[in-house]
Amino acid sequence: MKSQFTNEIFPRPEDFRWWERGIIYQIYPRSFKDGNGDGIGDLSGVREKLDYLQWLGVDAVWISPIFPSPMADFGYDVSNYTDIDPIFGTLAEFDALLAEVHRRGMKLLLDYVPNHTSDQHPWFIDARSSRMSAKRDWYIWRDPAPDGGPPNNWRANFGGAAWAWDENTEQYYYHAFLKEQPDLNWRNPQVQHAMLEVLRFWLQRGVDGFRVDVMHHLLKDTDFRDNPPNPDWHPGMSPYRELLTTYTADLPEVQEIVALMRGVLDEYDDRMLVGEIYLPVERLMAYYGASGRGAHLPFNFQLIRLAWNAKEIAEAVERYEALLPSYAWPNWVLGNHDKPRIATRAGAAQARVAAMLLLTLRGTPTMYYGDEIGMHDVPIAPDQVQDPFEKNVPGLGLGRDPVRTPMQWSSGQWAEFSTVRPWLPVADDYRNANVELERKDASSLLSLYRRLIELRRAERALSVGDYAALPAGEDLVAYMRKAGSRRILIVLNFGARPRRFNLNELEAQAVLLLSTYLDRERKKLAAELQLRPDEGVNVELS
Ligand code: GLC
Repeated sequence: MKSQFTNEIFPRPEDFRWWERGIIYQIYPRSFKDGNGDGIGDLSGVREKLDYLQWLGVDAVWISPIFPSPMADFGYDVSNYTDIDPIFGTLAEFDALLAEVHRRGMKLLLDYVPNHTSDQHPWFIDARSSRMSAKRDWYIWRDPAPDGGPPNNWRANFGGAAWAWDENTEQYYYHAFLKEQPDLNWRNPQVQHAMLEVLRFWLQRGVDGFRVDVMHHLLKDTDFRDNPPNPDWHPGMSPYRELLTTYTADLPEVQEIVALMRGVLDEYDDRMLVGEIYLPVERLMAYYGASGRGAHLPFNFQLIRLAWNAKEIAEAVERYEALLPSYAWPNWVLGNHDKPRIATRAGAAQARVAAMLLLTLRGTPTMYYGDEIGMHDVPIAPDQVQDPFEKNVPGLGLGRDPVRTPMQWSSGQWAEFSTVRPWLPVADDYRNANVELERKDASSLLSLYRRLIELRRAERALSVGDYAALPAGEDLVAYMRKAGSRRILIVLNFGARPRRFNLNELEAQAVLLLSTYLDRERKKLAAELQLRPDEGVNVELS
């Protein structure tokens, strides 16, 4: 082997932690399982399905926001950080869920939304009541520009200006997302204190960590300078992206806030922080913090953002591996509640290759509910639109409802997600793509996920081993994972044509462990590995 393995240069002192070894599974709670028959998923539904998650083999569950909220942005507008919205259940139900998760040896991550509150949060109601309010400075207020308009050109992610006029106190407040989501002023020490207490509240209850919403947005320019135009913008793109976010996101001081959060996590044993950060990988690395004292995992969204082809993916993996500081643990994400699903982006055949890629790369994998059964983006008729993003900026394909449709549990009515019509339509093809059916089918996508997870859990080389890229021909991505003397080769065909991979140079006996087709395994291989269209394989070398 000529290639350099990434980890060998920096052996890690301690053994691996659960969030390094483990697999994270994201639940969008409105859409996972309805336990009380109102058409909306909830905590009792999640609890009911823990058997399934355990059977699947995931280690940690991250649940998108479940806190009291007017639901302007479906929970990402929190009006009370230390309770549960009645739509989802009660604190007692949450505690029961957490206990059940822990009893199974699994972990639970909550969604922490620190950048903004709901406009119905008592803090904001107080802040907007008067300029003299003790909470006024907890949010970001500005006088109008000389012409009476907004103070600068900053835009909201979900369309329009990022400034909303407050009639009563005659000032504008800043909101990076909806006007119902005013941004907190994290430069105010009282805000820092109050929001860090929120972390402690849940950590004391026993949660294992947090996914931190838009971590890079937390601070804004104190001089409120205009954002410069984005030279790469073109019509058809989100209007928000017409400007760069130079003065509204990723300010260097954000790292100080991240370090504060990390400090709180470190008051407890073995907890972790994942940061939601949409930035180029070069910038992402800063979020690990100085010497790794920041987020344990800044989400790496490259597999969501890149075109689905061998060249781009291979280059991206290499670049990411090369950029990671010695103390940083990698991670990979295939989908989430904001972005098109993998089965839609890459197609059904490649979704299997994607599963193998996600579960054999070095670093913590995060799965999105339903991707394991091949759920695709569901077209949403105009009168069924729920997402405020689609309502504010219609027709550009930015709406997120298509990726938030009900989990397909069986061929029964409403896919057995609920006993009544769900809040979003169930996919048309749910009778062919659902958990019940795919569990019984030994070659289904679900079976593939389960086998890959099983293999990853059994093979240290896959879960925590070193990584090295291998040269591969057109349409192929190949790499080696290694722990001690154990070596596993992964070869993935991203194309629709058969391909060959030469095993000679590896000078080892090669045994095929798993194919994405799930129709050949434990087979001794000849010098040349034949790959069918859209096939990925794991090969044991000895
Ligand atoms: C994050 C969430 C998204 C939400 C936004 C505002 O990007 O993932 O769903 O709308 O933040 O909180």
